[in-house]
Amino acid sequence: MRLAAAKHQYEIKIGQGVLPDLGDEIRSCLPHTPRRVAVISNQKVLSLFGAQTLKSLRAAQYSVCPWLIGDGERYKTLGTVQKVIQFLSETGLERTDAVVALGGGVVGDVAGFAAATYLRGIPFLQVPTTLIAQIDSSVGGKTGVNLPHGKNLVGSFHQPYGVLIDTKTLTTLARRELVSGWCETIKQGAVGSKTLFKQTRDFLKTIKSAPDAFISPALERLIRSHCAFKAAIVIGDEREAPDRTDHLSRRVLNFGHTVGHALESLTEYRRFRHGEAVGYGMLVAGQMSSDLGLLATSELELLRDTVRLAGSLPDASNLDEDGIMRAILRDKKSVDGRVKWVLLERIGRARIVDGKDITPRLLRESIRHGLRKKF
Ligand code: NAD
Ligand code: GLY
Repeated sequence: MRLAAAKHQYEIKIGQGVLPDLGDEIRSCLPHTPRRVAVISNQKVLSLFGAQTLKSLRAAQYSVCPWLIGDGERYKTLGTVQKVIQFLSETGLERTDAVVALGGGVVGDVAGFAAATYLRGIPFLQVPTTLIAQIDSSVGGKTGVNLPHGKNLVGSFHQPYGVLIDTKTLTTLARRELVSGWCETIKQGAVGSKTLFKQTRDFLKTIKSAPDAFISPALERLIRSHCAFKAAIVIGDEREAPDRTDHLSRRVLNFGHTVGHALESLTEYRRFRHGEAVGYGMLVAGQMSSDLGLLATSELELLRDTVRLAGSLPDASNLDEDGIMRAILRDKKSVDGRVKWVLLERIGRARIVDGKDITPRLLRESIRHGLRKKF
């Protein structure tokens, strides 16, 4: 599958056991043949997939330079990026060399941002190893880090030159990381396509009754459908134009993220995995859509039931509503000081609603409903 971005097109290659193809993949996708390839990862991921990755790159005659960052959202900082850039500089990476991001969304966002800024931009490839990274973060070129004030407040659009998705890497993923990824798949279906939503829901039902069916051709097809959907949105609105409010704008991918980011920052990134927070965020946004009369009750129930199918979410019922509301106002997705809410007209079609149309009372009620223990 190809994604035609403004500066260059790139291939998204998906398969079971394709990681050993990385060396050849680099050769075919980069504009120059690199001498050095810097592999940015973390200890956990490198211990699982480092041997295969480095072997493939060395077999392709690259000088391979691995660098590890800390594991977890709290390392998605400017300090980590600075260390990566320092490493790239000390290693003598040139503009014709390349960076490989091997890991989940944190590694991808950090390594991508370092590649975007070092020497004013060098090529990079995404080798995503979590479900979130495989269906969302590795595609589309958003890179960046968090600030103490909120998530992803510093970053750059820097498209990779290639994305290599080995579905087999998901075998070692912890249950919560999968739940987190499933929530993001539900998000993509909910805003973009009833068919994608149904494909995701059917897959979730299948693996609930037969967990061994997880790594399968059906999973590969599902990831392919999600990447195709994401690529289509990105091609139409690569830099998320602030004035776009139509249902095909990139902004719709932020469904569930306004409340999700607020929950993450309020709990200092310790209680929720990213997708788990988005899971709650979708329930709140779904409730708001229903309370505004945009979304039928049956559609809201379908959304809730599908989030339930993704797996259990950490308890959020004891969080302070005022704190959540304050955190929402700090969200970077606000325009002219107002939040642009991504809501739903139906499953498969988003509607962007200006914050002035959402009363504090409606917001508070939706948070209360969305975060209650049993949803
Ligand atoms: P993550 O990168 O922290 O990975 C989750 C955990 O899984 C980590 O502990 C990691 O070490 C581990 N891990 C990775 N691969 C593994 C494997 N195959 N087996 C076992 N463990 C493995 O988090 P994530 O959920 O992948 O990504 C979340 C991040 O992605 C957030 O920072 C979010 O903001 C960002 N994100 C970015 C975009 C984008 O468009 N750039 C989109 C969605 C999310
Ligand atoms: N994950 C949101 C985006 O890529 O725009």
